Amino acid sequence: MSTRNLAKDQPDSFAFTDEHKARIKKIIAKYPEGYQASAVIPLLDLAQRQEGWVTKPAIDVIAELLDMPVIRVLEVATFYTMFNLHPVGECHVQVCTSLSCWLRGSNDVVKAFNDKLGIKFGETTADGTVTLSEVECAGACVNAPVVAVGDEYYEDLTYETMSKLIDDIKAGNTLAPGSAVGRQGAEPEGNRTSLTTDPTQTTPIQDLAVAKQKFEEAQEAARKAKENP
Ligand code: FES
Repeated sequence: MSTRNLAKDQPDSFAFTDEHKARIKKIIAKYPEGYQASAVIPLLDLAQRQEGWVTKPAIDVIAELLDMPVIRVLEVATFYTMFNLHPVGECHVQVCTSLSCWLRGSNDVVKAFNDKLGIKFGETTADGTVTLSEVECAGACVNAPVVAVGDEYYEDLTYETMSKLIDDIKAGNTLAPGSAVGRQGAEPEGNRTSLTTDPTQTTPIQDLAVAKQKFEEAQEAARKAKENP
């Protein structure tokens, strides 16, 4: 993962839209008095949804809104890879290359982008549509390798399925997120090996009196066996 610095070219100013200002009031109200700084992540996210990336003027505005030193907002913005510190294309693709995804073939996923779009990490296609970013664990390791396109996750990818996904992105198709091999949630591939019973059915209640009697009988048998080996 490369160092995360703010973009060199920054806009002169930033202001939240009226709609976002109303949302900000509600977000801040969720936190107890004196803990408004906890709203820093949702506010950075809102700024990014408005502009497509997190600008230095936006960081200044958020610091003022939350009564925080600018450096503390900056620390959060530069720490989390979900915040774009540079402008990104209309379609922002984030590829996880952490351990589980790497073991399950994230290098092949990255190669699909290199081959089909000619872009590497940190680059945007010449037409400005697709930006490719490398991210740390996306929190969906069970379905590795994982790619986020905007807010949606695409999982269990291979070179071939990623290539097909890229074709769909280029064609502007609406894509169904989730597992490329049809897994539901994080179930294992193939048949389930656990949790195979119907969870809506109650488990039979154990008869404790019978269990106690069996235990005592076993104790007695063991005692006799010890006395008469
Ligand atoms: S390692 Fe990729 S989602 Fe966790």
